[in-house]
Amino acid sequence: MKYRMLGRTGLKVSELGFGCGSVGGLLVRGEYPKMRRAVARALELGIAYFDTASLYGDGQSEVNLGAVLREIGADPLVGTKVRLEPPDLDRVEAAIAESVEASLRRLGRERIDLIQLHNPFVPHSGPDWAGVTLHHFPAVLRAFEALERQGKVRFWGITGLGETEMLHQAVTGGGFHTVQVVYNLLNPSAGMQVPAGFPYQDYRQLVDRAASKQMGSIAIRVLAGGALSGTPDRHPVAARSVTPIATERDYAADVARARRFACLVEDGTVGSLVEAAIRFAISKPEISTALVGISSLEQLEHAIACANRGPLSADTLRRVHEIQAQVAKT
Ligand SMILES: NC(=O)c1ccc[n+]([C@@H]2O[C@H](COP(=O)([O-])OP(=O)(O)OC[C@H]3O[C@@H](n4cnc5c(N)ncnc54)[C@H](OP(=O)(O)O)[C@@H]3O)[C@@H](O)[C@H]2O)c1
Repeated sequence: MKYRMLGRTGLKVSELGFGCGSVGGLLVRGEYPKMRRAVARALELGIAYFDTASLYGDGQSEVNLGAVLREIGADPLVGTKVRLEPPDLDRVEAAIAESVEASLRRLGRERIDLIQLHNPFVPHSGPDWAGVTLHHFPAVLRAFEALERQGKVRFWGITGLGETEMLHQAVTGGGFHTVQVVYNLLNPSAGMQVPAGFPYQDYRQLVDRAASKQMGSIAIRVLAGGALSGTPDRHPVAARSVTPIATERDYAADVARARRFACLVEDGTVGSLVEAAIRFAISKPEISTALVGISSLEQLEHAIACANRGPLSADTLRRVHEIQAQVAKT
């Protein structure tokens, strides 16, 4: 496993991070001994960053991750998230403080390495929609800074979902250490220029904008929620259905698009579509860690083996870009 700097935090994270979310589901719905085995193996193979959230399994992911790490006696970097609900938008600082206290309790930790805002960024928030606007920013930052002074968090970041323009303004404003960005074979726009008429949300190289501000980028949806495995079958503990983020309208359409990269497998360039997707994500040096949502020990070991094959070669990346351009057109 190789390691990269997480922006200006001084923390070193593994190129591959362990996603403890609901889509993969192991840390939410898995059997405890299977979680313990997978987390122990991840640590053994060099994974140094675990991503969870208060929302995943309604706190269950934090509870399980905390219990497993305590039992193993390991202390890797852990990031979690705070999601503000509409009534919280009038009391942002108190709501963030309460959420972090609850996360600390569930994780059984004294300090969180990385706390991230889980809300998307929108131009205007409404009574039933908890998107945050730039107007909420100062209060969010004050809350995170106060928690840092109390020794409860070390660093803080945002989730790069929502309107592209808002996200660029949020990143340009500085103040945050990290951003979670959608980056995958189907939608690589956070890390490269895409042609006019690109069919999905264009993140306009958010990763590069973040790097210019010494922010760390954490890639999410590297496997498009599983669609980049090229099959619609889901693992028994995985989420039964996945709503795509910034790709096609539905999962089946993402799977169909993913299959357009199958020529790379057929000619032996990569061993699987999953390998192509993981190696594509780590080919962008400005991405500090690429998260993969894990359903089983087998998936974890496979994902790590893929990452250990390193970034794609320049030739393969050229071919990937050609396929991406064709996929975008049709
Ligand atoms: N901040 C945010 O709002 C946000 C949003 C999304 C994700 N995240 C974070 O990013 C992490 C990853 O994202 P994600 O879980 O949404 O999507 P993902 O990593 O793109 O996809 C996860 C799915 O990929 C499949 N998979 C994983 N490893 C595999 C392997 N080796 N071989 C074959 N298939 C494999 C599994 O699906 P099958 O069921 O098909 O096996 C799994 O459910 C999350 O756990 C979370 O920590 C954050």
